[in-house]
Amino acid sequence: MATIKKIFSCNNCGARYPKWMGQCVHCGEWNTIEEEIVKSKKNPEQKILENNSKVQEIKDISTQKNERIKIYDNELNRVLGGGLVPGSLILISGEPGIGKSTLVLQISISINKKVLYVSGEESQQQIKIRADRISNDQTECYILTETNLELILKSIENILPEIIVIDSIQTIQTDNIDNSQGSTPQIKECTSTLIKVAKQTGIPIIIIGHITKDGNIAGPKVLEHMVDVVLNFEGDKNHQYRILRSKKNRFGSTSEIGIYEMFDKGLQIVKNPSELFTSNRDEALSGNSIGITIDGNRSIMVEIQALVSSAVYGTPQRISNGFNSKRLNMLLAILEKKLGFKIGVKDVFINITGGIKIEDPALDLAVVSSILSSNTNLSIDSKVCFCAEIGLSGELRNVSNINLRISEAERLGYEKIIISKGSKLNYNNSKIQILKFSKLNDVVKEVFREQD
Ligand code: TYD
Ligand code: MG
Repeated sequence: MATIKKIFSCNNCGARYPKWMGQCVHCGEWNTIEEEIVKSKKNPEQKILENNSKVQEIKDISTQKNERIKIYDNELNRVLGGGLVPGSLILISGEPGIGKSTLVLQISISINKKVLYVSGEESQQQIKIRADRISNDQTECYILTETNLELILKSIENILPEIIVIDSIQTIQTDNIDNSQGSTPQIKECTSTLIKVAKQTGIPIIIIGHITKDGNIAGPKVLEHMVDVVLNFEGDKNHQYRILRSKKNRFGSTSEIGIYEMFDKGLQIVKNPSELFTSNRDEALSGNSIGITIDGNRSIMVEIQALVSSAVYGTPQRISNGFNSKRLNMLLAILEKKLGFKIGVKDVFINITGGIKIEDPALDLAVVSSILSSNTNLSIDSKVCFCAEIGLSGELRNVSNINLRISEAERLGYEKIIISKGSKLNYNNSKIQILKFSKLNDVVKEVFREQD
């Protein structure tokens, strides 16, 4: 007989309590504990007896039937680590309106597999209009507009799809529990049922998840632990480009990103991201510099702009767009201490053009150069780029994959690249002039030398 139990669980760490509390004792988060009604259908002993999963020695397990399913979208294949793994659950999260539904619909109507696209948000007509907008040549894709999990499972049984898409997990609800649609227990229960379906049938399931205002996936944090792959779809709504970033991947690297541009006919892959993030101008402007960042196996050139002006208020402002503001403060402290620049009385604004956010310390030298350029009003030659991390004593430090970065700069026609002295190069007769320095002081002398 089914027994009904009421428990309280934390939607951040999953800890369970017999009564409600304001703060979770386990993870310390406030207001994360929610009521959950659990119906247990069988007694645990019976469950153990019914358990018929086989124990197998690792040598004997075959992986042949687990060949990845390739998608007609190489960016996504790369981010996934080479395609969809059968039986896996992929969560794609992102802000409303960023293009999640467009991305998954694009995959669904272009892949040569039978797809079941379940939408709890849009009507079949709306989805059809969108699909027509993206492509007239649509493959076998079934659209179901339904929010009840049990009915969705029935359709899965009837249609027997090879790929399932759920748009979105927050709109799906199961009859097993009484909590309202979109609540933490509902999301948890629906996801765990879908995981069972995926593992038992080997059908990969892509689910879309909304995110909250502070950028976390709406619902329980445990959702991220439950699924195999978490991909964040992000971008600036004022810009056309979108980035698909892997946050967790049980079957591949998390350092890969996919870059797309949103057009009126859907999302298109950006083949040459460096050209997207740098403006191809010939005249040099003060405050601008070029740096090189790495994502996975690709290097991308980015343009950094700085504006340094006299502080009007007592406390100088430090505003950074796309670059870590704590790191910016550190670089400013190094400039003050090692180069004697009186930056403490100046406002400093930093912007990485294109709206991209970068956490790569290899941009340090480019950021510092653009600040110095704006501060002195001396422009940096537009054919020069920078690539080094800066240490606390003002020394230039090596960065990862320096050869890959130099080759991208060379490919795009830059004439000079400034890197750290200790960099290990396997470049012999490159067209680009490679200048190695060990101290920030020497870089400043080199870059602003001719204009003194
Ligand atoms: P959508 O995929 O609905 O976003 P999400 O599912 O993440 O909420 O994308 C909606 C936005 O994308 C909307 O503002 C319109 C725009 N868009 C295009 O620019 N071109 C297109 O071909 C499509 C289908 C949408
Ligand atoms: Mg949507």
